[in-house]
This record gives sequence, C-alpha cells and structure tokens, in this order.
Amino acid sequence: MRLATLTSGGDCPGLNAVIRSIVRTANTEYGSTVVGYQDGWVGLLEDRRVDLYDDEEVDRILLRGGTILGTGRLHPDKFKAGIDTVKNNLQDAGIDALIPIGGEGTLKGAKWLADNGVPVVGVPKTIDNDVSGTDYTFGFDTAVSVATDAIDRLHTTAESHDRVMIVEVMGRNVGWIALHAGMAGGAHYTVIPEVPFNIEEITKAMQRRFQLGEKYGIIVVAEGAVPEEGTMEMSVGDVDQFGHTTFTGIGQQIGDEIKRRIGQDVRTTVLGHIQRGGTPTAYDRVLATRYGAHAARAAHEQTFGSCVALNGEDIVTITLEEAIGDLKVVPVQRYENARSLFG
Ligand code: F6P
Repeated sequence: MRLATLTSGGDCPGLNAVIRSIVRTANTEYGSTVVGYQDGWVGLLEDRRVDLYDDEEVDRILLRGGTILGTGRLHPDKFKAGIDTVKNNLQDAGIDALIPIGGEGTLKGAKWLADNGVPVVGVPKTIDNDVSGTDYTFGFDTAVSVATDAIDRLHTTAESHDRVMIVEVMGRNVGWIALHAGMAGGAHYTVIPEVPFNIEEITKAMQRRFQLGEKYGIIVVAEGAVPEEGTMEMSVGDVDQFGHTTFTGIGQQIGDEIKRRIGQDVRTTVLGHIQRGGTPTAYDRVLATRYGAHAARAAHEQTFGSCVALNGEDIVTITLEEAIGDLKVVPVQRYENARSLFG
C-alpha cells in the first residue's frame, strides 16, 4: 500500500511522533510506503509532497515538537472547491489511503473527502482536548505540564511581592487546560469559557485571601473566558476569515478590574504559544505513537471514513461523523466540583 499523511490546523507537541509511528508501522508490519503532504490541506491541493522513509531521520523526530511536514489552515469554501483537485492529486501519486492529523476543522475536511469517496483515516490532535469521541488528544498533557510549571513559578514570585497573579492559558472554546493546570498548580481561582465569570466573586475570593493573612493569589484564566452578561465591560475583538473573534486579552482585563476594585498589585502572564511548542511529554509521545500505529493498521484494514480515538485505556476507531460531533466541553458539574479548591 502507499499511504499519505499530513498535519493541519494549529500545531501541537506529538505530531511528529504520530508521523514516525505511521511510517514505522506501515513499513515494518506491511512493507508499505508513506508520503507526507506539506503545510496541511494546502500542500495536498498544490501537490507538494515528500517521501517519508523508515530511516534514522524519521526515527529521531519522536521528541521533536512542531511538525516536520509544516501545517496550515484552509478556509472551508476553498477546501470544498478543491475536492476534485485533491482526488486527482491522490490518484496521480498512487495513494491508497490518506491519514490527516488535525483538530475538529481538519477532521471535518477529512469527512468531506470521505463522503466524496476518498479512503481516509483521521487522527485527532489539539492541545485543547476538545475533539468529540476521544478521551484525550495528544498535546494536551504537554500544554497542561507547561502551564503547571509556569503556575508553580508564579507562586513564589507572587508571594515575595504580595501580588495577585493572573495566568492566561489557551482555550478558545473549552477550559480543559485551565481546569487541569489550575488544579495541578493549586490556583486560587480558575475561569473557563464554559461558565461565564462574575468579576465581583473573583475579586471577593482574592480579598478574602488577603484578609485571612495570605500574601498572594493565583488566578488561571482561559483565553476564551467571558463575563456574566452585564457584569463587566469588555473590549471587543475583530472577526477573522474563519469566523473566530480575535482575543483582546481577557487576563489583563480581569487583572485591571481586580486592581481597580481592591487596589492590590496585580500582574498578568499570557502563556500563549509556549504551551504549544517544544518537546512532548512522555504521555503525549505514547498516545501519539499509539494513534499513529492504529491509524496505519486501520488504513491497511480499509476501515475508511474513520478516526482513531482513546477510549479508557484502549485505542479504538470511531467514525469521522462521531469525531466532528459537538466539541467536548468541560461539564459544568466538573467545574463546580473544582470550586471548593478556590480561594
Ligand atoms: O490549537 C487550538 C489553539 O491552541 C487555541 O487554544 C488557540 O486559540 C488557537 O489554537 C491559536 O492558534 P493560532 O494562534 O495558531 O491561530
């Protein structure tokens, strides 16, 4: 068989581990070859591809962050308009199955291709951990570790200066990184997009700490957090070509408001893309490797229109339909249960 793979959407630690695992499994278990399209769907449309050999070079990418294939985003309209080109390119290159690695948007593209007769097996990725139908996506554990390390460090400097520290983490629509990093880092308040925040309540939680003689407070805020309606004036961002509202710095805005209300010294740290860069954790390397191997096997077994997923301890295949279902948000009750740790 001749397989093709590509990485699309925002990058995340573990993409290279998947690529390596696809190449090694295809080669050693089936004697198959693999090509990689560059820069996501754009490279497939423009027929830019490289052969991926089961050699030392590919072997060594296990620990490398980013993606050796490059990545990109393609507007859904351009994607749909290019489906015939994609089919022709795959056919001309003699590709028997395509394994796209990406988040919700990428998997939607995979589904459109599958609906048009392209043999596809998807691999879910995102640091946000919001893909439907899978317990965890690789990249998430690394992002949480990076954020937790940052929070650990902020505890000591916050305490030295009697400050409130705001840590803004990634998470446009979901608060998994904020919830887990906040819990692991012992944050005194965590704000997630799923549950609109009340600035009065956050301020009171910080005030209480200082009144009780605590010297500092740490607040973790997901970048997509929103206030309860009518409780706080917010800057409004522009809307980009993908319909995403650009962020206006929610961490800074919450920090400014707390400072204004209680006069405490406040500093804000925006972790941004640091959470997405660098080497994957051991957990993410293992998950990514298992996903890649399972996807290569599913392609050889012709389980097309599918997507690999983690179900408990097991790697399984689900349908692409399931993978592009509703985003996996933090259940409100799960957040409410974490509240007892605030303050
Ligand atoms: O991968 C998802 C994500 O990490 C979001 O949490 C974040 O909003 C987005 O990517 C930012 O990506 P970029 O800056 O590459 O557009």
